[in-house]
Amino acid sequence: MKTVVIYASKYGSTRGIAEFIAGKLRQAGTQAEARHVGKVHNPGDYEAFVIGSAVYMMHWLKEATEFVKGNSALLANRPVWFFSSGPLGTETKDAQGQDLRAVTEPKEIAEFRELIKPRDHRVFFGVLDSSKLGFGHRMLRKLPAARNLLPEGDFRDWNDIEAWSISISRVLATPQATP
Ligand SMILES: Cc1cc2nc3c(=O)[nH]c(=O)nc-3n(C[C@H](O)[C@H](O)[C@H](O)COP(=O)(O)O)c2cc1C
Repeated sequence: MKTVVIYASKYGSTRGIAEFIAGKLRQAGTQAEARHVGKVHNPGDYEAFVIGSAVYMMHWLKEATEFVKGNSALLANRPVWFFSSGPLGTETKDAQGQDLRAVTEPKEIAEFRELIKPRDHRVFFGVLDSSKLGFGHRMLRKLPAARNLLPEGDFRDWNDIEAWSISISRVLATPQATP
C-alpha cells in the first residue's frame, strides 16, 4: 500500500521522526516515503497517510493543519495516523501526576478526530537544541514560566516510535482492514 509520512518541522527533529517511521514501514515491506507537507502535490496518489507536526504553544504548525483541513474529504476515506512531536524532558508525568503526552495534546487533534476519524494519534517526546532556535523562540524560552517546560536535549524515544511504526505496518499489511 503506497504510504506517505508527511511532516511539518521547524528545527528538523520531527522530520527525523517522519524519516524513521518511513524507514521502519519500508523494512516491514510497505512502500513508504517521508515528505515535507509543502512537497505533497498530489495527495490522491497515496493510499495511506501518517501525518505529524512539531508542536508550538499547544498547536501544530500552520502548514500541517492547513494540509489536514484542506484534504479532509480525501483523508476521511483513507487510513490515517497522526503524530505530534512536542513535550521535552525525562518526566512522563506533570506536577499533578497526569500523563504529559495526554496534557500536551495539541488543540487541533480533537477536531481532526471528528473530521478524519484517524486510526490513532500519538504524542512523541521531542528535541530542543537552543543553538538552533530563532530569535522569538529564544526570547520565549528565557521567560521563567517557559524554562522548566523547555529543557534542552533530545528526548525522542525511538523504541516507542518503532513500536508504533510496526503497529501501523501490521494494519497496512492486512488489506481488508483498510478502506
Ligand atoms: C518556544 C517553544 C514552544 C514550544 N511549545 C510547545 C508546546 O506548547 N507543546 C509541546 O508539546 N512542545 C512544545 N515545544 C517543544 C517542541 O515541540 C519540540 O522542541 C519539538 O521537538 C520541535 O520539533 P522540530 O525540531 O521539528 O521543530 C516548544 C518549543 C519551543 C522552542
